[in-house]
Amino acid sequence: MKAKSLAQEVNRRRTFAIISHPDAGKTTITEKLLLYGGAIREAGSVKARKSSHHATSDWMEIEKQRGISVTSSIMQFEYEGYCVNILDTPGHQDFSEDTYRTLCAADAAVMLIDGAKGVEPQTIKLFHVCRMRGIPIFTFINKMDRASLSPFELLDQLEKVLNIDSFPINWPIGTDGNFKGVYNRQLKQVQRFIADGTHGSKQVNIALTDLNDPELTALIGADHQQQISDEIELLDIAGEDFEMERVLQGELTPVFFGSAITNFGVEPFLQDFLKMAPPPGAKKVNSGSETIQPTDEEFSAFVFKIQANMNPGHRDRMAFIRICSGHFKKGLEVTNNRDNKLIRLTQPQTFMAQDHRILEEAYAGDIIGIFDPGVLRIGDSLYTGDNSIEFGDIPRFSPEHFAKVQPKNSLKRKQFNKGMEQLAQEGAIQLYKRPDAGTESYMVGVVGVLQFDVLEHRLNNEYKVDIILQPENYRFARWISFKDRQLMHGEAPDDLNLTSTTLTVMDRHDLPVLLFESQWAMDWALERNEGLILSDINT
Ligand code: G4P
Repeated sequence: MKAKSLAQEVNRRRTFAIISHPDAGKTTITEKLLLYGGAIREAGSVKARKSSHHATSDWMEIEKQRGISVTSSIMQFEYEGYCVNILDTPGHQDFSEDTYRTLCAADAAVMLIDGAKGVEPQTIKLFHVCRMRGIPIFTFINKMDRASLSPFELLDQLEKVLNIDSFPINWPIGTDGNFKGVYNRQLKQVQRFIADGTHGSKQVNIALTDLNDPELTALIGADHQQQISDEIELLDIAGEDFEMERVLQGELTPVFFGSAITNFGVEPFLQDFLKMAPPPGAKKVNSGSETIQPTDEEFSAFVFKIQANMNPGHRDRMAFIRICSGHFKKGLEVTNNRDNKLIRLTQPQTFMAQDHRILEEAYAGDIIGIFDPGVLRIGDSLYTGDNSIEFGDIPRFSPEHFAKVQPKNSLKRKQFNKGMEQLAQEGAIQLYKRPDAGTESYMVGVVGVLQFDVLEHRLNNEYKVDIILQPENYRFARWISFKDRQLMHGEAPDDLNLTSTTLTVMDRHDLPVLLFESQWAMDWALERNEGLILSDINT
């Protein structure tokens, strides 16, 4: 086979994350995509792995089983000439700031929604990160084999809750628990749903029929058939126009209805998605003064996630790197922009099917895992060539759980401080200090409670410090700025009108942050302090 050019390799890559609320069916649909991509032969294997994670509530057990493998983080497969990279965004108890950071490495997102539940809280949070990045968002409304909300209600939620316009690519028939299939608006045909009793463990072919097919009339009744025709006419007249440009800007989401568990609509979705989703694009670097193209010959990449190994036998960590330009070969020597040091990228990993493998080559758009002896940090920019490249920081996201942390034994304060600083630097936690207080106790913020367990375990394991962790009632952290006033670096405003439970703290970069216990307290601050701007992401 003739080797493909760099441009050909880049153009056939699609790198995306699936965002959803727990239980919407992310594991199920991921597995079906792997099935169609030939990465697994029969559905059931990913699921089995997942249930083994969740069967135990002991987090250490979970980590032990997972080891440092990248299997749950990146999945790569080939499909009809495309090279597909799926980034896992952990949900459930694995939800952490990493889940958000992973979205910084994706070129598109698939938003999976449970048709009976509509838009749910975790989806909203993840959606906002995608929105901020301006990446295209494709919506798959799942579980249509069961009774669901009306499709109009679901589209209304996308518009009202997420503020995104939608264009249904297909339209469900029978949403009252009597699912008959979908009408494909492009093909102008009905794709019939026929449950084959295999629970979707194998690939399915879809039977096509005309909307006026008498067989369909017999199945759903003439009234129902008329209703579907009317709904589709209404969509054609009153719905959004399909504009690819708006899809690529993340302003219009193509919507697909289907059922992952029965495989219904998964392959047509994959085919349309791959056609519409963009290949890796240009990226602004060096504070926006330069742009690199994915097809540039020189390699460039950034670190978006570091997974520490919880196994005391190994101190290695895995750094996840998103390649932004060029061609990567095993053993490539790159410069780390942060300290200008050379580092050799050995033992790069990717995941294919059930196991990971050493990667020989990769291209812009790909994600690789590198064993890191502790030299890499989240946000590091790596490159080859003489022209230094800096991608800019990975944003920090508002924590949702807070605790005061101090060492059990005050003689261990030095190790404790060192450990806390390093873990914060790695992005494992966010650290805050009272502007008027010393470092007697730190305030720690995390996105997912699992991060507290990681903190406790790693301080004990790597720094030999036991800690006392006292949960706090704060629920929101917001970075502060003002419309008409510039704060000095390190300055905490002391003239704000706040509720008695709202706390002003400084983050690790000496930026002022307000900690709130409730939405009410946050509204209070906004109403009583003119020009105050609160942001939940620090870019
Ligand atoms: P998650 O990763 O997003 O958390 O969801 P997951 O795939 O684990 O799916 C959550 C539950 O929803 C599972 O049921 C799964 O079988 C079911 N599910 C997924 N897709 C569909 C669908 O298209 N239709 C229907 N009816 N159900 C679907 P469970 O009872 O929690 O697990 P299991 O016993 O099926 O393994």
